[in-house]
Formats: sequence, structure tokens, C-alpha cells
Amino acid sequence: MLFAFVLLLLVAEIHSAIQSRFTNIECKMLDPSYAVYEQCKLKVLGRGIVGLNVKATLKKGPFNNAKINMSLWRKFNGYHPFLVNSTFDFCKYMDKSTRKMSYEKVLMDYLNKNSNLNHSCPYEDSIIIKNLVFDANFFKFLPWPPGNYMFQLMAATDNDWKTVVNVHFINTEIND
Ligand SMILES: *[C@@H]1O[C@H](CO)[C@@H](O)[C@H](O)[C@H]1NC(C)=O
Ligand SMILES: *[C@@H]1O[C@H](CO)[C@@H](O)[C@H](O)[C@H]1NC(C)=O
Ligand SMILES: *[C@@H]1O[C@H](CO)[C@@H](O)[C@H](O)[C@H]1NC(C)=O
Repeated sequence: MLFAFVLLLLVAEIHSAIQSRFTNIECKMLDPSYAVYEQCKLKVLGRGIVGLNVKATLKKGPFNNAKINMSLWRKFNGYHPFLVNSTFDFCKYMDKSTRKMSYEKVLMDYLNKNSNLNHSCPYEDSIIIKNLVFDANFFKFLPWPPGNYMFQLMAATDNDWKTVVNVHFINTEIND
């Protein structure tokens, strides 16, 4: 369920001409009998540093199968698809030791560093993402025009979408 949540998180400058910061996060459990969100919020950790925090308690499980859909949207007259649009088998993904370069890999590696997702299936008890902050190094391959974006993550188990997490962020150009 929940997994991930997000990425694109952001904040802070870190030697880049683009500065990104979170503006909002929304976590929605489509089937509350499976899990509940106890936390879903952005937290200011310091000057210019925003951390993303999510805690979901799993009410069923252990879960041995999960599917993730991640998509990135750019906002101008509504939301338009932007670069990332992918659905993959999360348990298979976490099982593999060598993985080729992909958006999935970059995002999941990033998330793994700041969550308790860093192991193979099954998942049980809870999913926690703590103070996930933007690390520009992870996303430098993306051509980021300034503007408003939304990263959407959906998670399914038993082939049924159980949760949707939307993370909104803004990219602004900075002059060095
Ligand atoms: C995302 O990819 C799927 C399958 O590859 C495709 O059917 C769908 O139209 C795409 N959606 C967007 C918003 O690009
Ligand atoms: C992922 O979900 C979005 C809806 O949020 C959908 O537009 C897209 O087609 C899905 N991508 C794939 C590859 O199925
Ligand atoms: C989990 O983290 C350890 C280091 O903390 C790393 O060696 C390992 O590859 C990670 N496992 C996964 C599945 O990402």
C-alpha cells in the first residue's frame, strides 16, 4: 500500500539552477480496511529544507504482491503528463539485486534511503517515510523547466488500487 510516496520532494538548492520545493501532499486510502494513514505531511526541517513524512499502518497483510504506478504531471492549464508514466511489480522489483537504470530505480533508491521499505516482500505492520528531503543529485538527469508539478503514486495489492498519494511541488529558476 502505500509505499512510496513520493519523491519529488524537494527543496533546497544544492548547486542547481532550479530550486524545488514541496507545496502540498495528499494521501488517500481508497480502501480503509487495508490501511490507514496516521501521518501525511510536509515538515520544515530548517531554512529552505522541507521533509516529507508519511506513516501508514497496515491493517491486513503481510502483503506479498504489490503494484506501483508512478506518474509525473506538469501544470499549465490543467495537468499534463510529463516524462514519467510507469507501472511495475513492486515485489519483483525489490527482489532484484541488479537493476538497470530507469526512473523507477532512481525513485525507489531514493525512497529506500529514507523509509522502512528497504527490503523485499512481504510488507506488514507499517510503512514509514521519515524526513525525506530533496537531493538534487538524484534528479539531475531530468530536464526540469520552472513551473508547478505533481507527482502521483498509486499502489495496488491483489490487483486493486488501494492508495493514491499526490505530491505537489514547484520549480523556480535561481540566479547564481
Ligand atoms: C501511460 O502509459 C500507458 C501504458 O503505456 C498508456 O496507456 C497511457 O496512455 C499513458 N498515460 C499517460 C498519461 O501518458
Ligand atoms: C498510471 O496512472 C495514471 C493515472 O494516474 C494513468 O494515466 C497512467 O496511464 C498509468 N500508467 C500506466 C503505465 O499504466
Ligand atoms: C538496503 O540498504 C542497504 C544499505 O543500507 C543496501 O546495502 C541494500 O542494498 C538496500 N537494499 C535494498 C533492497 O535496496
